[in-house]
Amino acid sequence: MTQSNVDNKNQGFWDELCGSGLAKSIGTLDNSPESIKKFDSAYMGLYPYLFQYLPHPTKPEERILEIGLGYGTVGGILVERGFDYYGLDIAEGPVGLMGERMKRNGLSGQSVQEGSALEIPHPNEHFDKVISIGCLHHTGDLEKCVAEVHRVLAPGGEAVIMLYNRLSYRQLVQAPANWYREMRAEGWNGYRQRIRAMYDTNLEGEAAPHTDYISMFKAHRLFKSFTSIDIDIQNFDHLTLFGGKFHRDRPQLLNNIGRIFGLDLYITLQK
Ligand SMILES: C[S@@+](CC[C@H](N)C(=O)[O-])C[C@H]1O[C@@H](n2cnc3c(N)ncnc32)[C@H](O)[C@@H]1O
Repeated sequence: MTQSNVDNKNQGFWDELCGSGLAKSIGTLDNSPESIKKFDSAYMGLYPYLFQYLPHPTKPEERILEIGLGYGTVGGILVERGFDYYGLDIAEGPVGLMGERMKRNGLSGQSVQEGSALEIPHPNEHFDKVISIGCLHHTGDLEKCVAEVHRVLAPGGEAVIMLYNRLSYRQLVQAPANWYREMRAEGWNGYRQRIRAMYDTNLEGEAAPHTDYISMFKAHRLFKSFTSIDIDIQNFDHLTLFGGKFHRDRPQLLNNIGRIFGLDLYITLQK
């Protein structure tokens, strides 16, 4: 796929808000203020460790850029914490909802715009902070995104980036479990699509157009232009083994195996 192909597909696919499966399961697809409140509480309940990665402003009017907005739960928290908030997303749906959230907070919402992480539409060194949860690995060019995040951060600025872990239990054990049968049935592209669908699908069950997975080691190389990097591993699926004889629910695994072979890398950076 060419870059413009990936961009076009991302624009269409993510117009349906990321998290619509969760919204459907709790009956909040209408986006009314009550539904959004219920969605936010379900979202943060699902990712309880996320709070620790969401920064607080350290001075008045501190400027933060969020890239990849989805339902805007993170953006909503950052706005409430008093940041001078800017949002960027390639798709119209998330931009519309985040703009609506800002208006509901008495703000204009004009600082939320459509655009790509690959060409951030802001000047050099414009932001004190950048945050991007689960977005950059969908763009098709992680290196370029990282260079862009570095460019728009002020010296001494901080970024929090979540990317999928290549060395997770899901990648190492669950995904390849039936690879031979699947490769024979559907070929390499079908196999890769099934792996992507383990992470992100729309309501039709279709997989996200593009996803990269990176190891901690690769993350250290990728972000080498930053002066400091800290990486935490978080998130895990529930686990059933030996034909159901062994079962652990997801919350029981978040603070042990999830910190070693978890799904997501939380990368905290300083420029
Ligand atoms: C998996 S969702 C994550 C959304 C949200 N951060 C969350 O955690 O729920 C990925 C988001 O990244 C956005 N996205 C994908 N490619 C992008 C790009 N090239 N530039 C900016 N945003 C992009 C999508 O539109 C989508 O809203």
